[in-house]
Amino acid sequence: MVVDIGAGAATVAVALSEALGRSKRKRIDYLAFDPHPMMRKLGKRVLKHLDAGFRSAKYIQSLDEDDFTDTDRLLFTFSYVAHQDAVTQDDIDEWASLTKRAVYEVDGDVELIYTTIYNAASARKGTLPDLRRKL
Ligand SMILES: C[S@@+](CC[C@H](N)C(=O)[O-])C[C@H]1O[C@@H](n2cnc3c(N)ncnc32)[C@H](O)[C@@H]1O
Repeated sequence: MVVDIGAGAATVAVALSEALGRSKRKRIDYLAFDPHPMMRKLGKRVLKHLDAGFRSAKYIQSLDEDDFTDTDRLLFTFSYVAHQDAVTQDDIDEWASLTKRAVYEVDGDVELIYTTIYNAASARKGTLPDLRRKL
């Protein structure tokens, strides 16, 4: 399973579809989360157009919808989201507790990849170091 937090227009799904062969993609459940309705709308269109052949691919409205109990391997992606102004301390705490729950629920590995922009403004905000520490 791949849980893409701050998925935007499903760019991680596009990258996966380019990087992995069809047989690997068939084993992936792709879950995208983005709080902004317009991004979700756009991302749903991208997923439809992409037709990547994932086992499943959908946008979720809340991170509480995830259930990891039947998952044997999980990758969280945070692609250019953690530095966003709209990301609050509550978001960081929610992501940290979500990953913690995943570690308990998933049978196998829980992995995480995040890419972000670290500049003076994001350094002042302090959420990135906190996220890094909690994850
Ligand atoms: C720069 S875009 C990155 C989109 C995509 N992940 C990518 O790499 O192309 C940042 C995304 O973060 C989303 N975002 C903003 N605040 C968020 C939050 N609190 N939780 C999750 N996503 C958020 C925005 O709606 C936007 O789609």
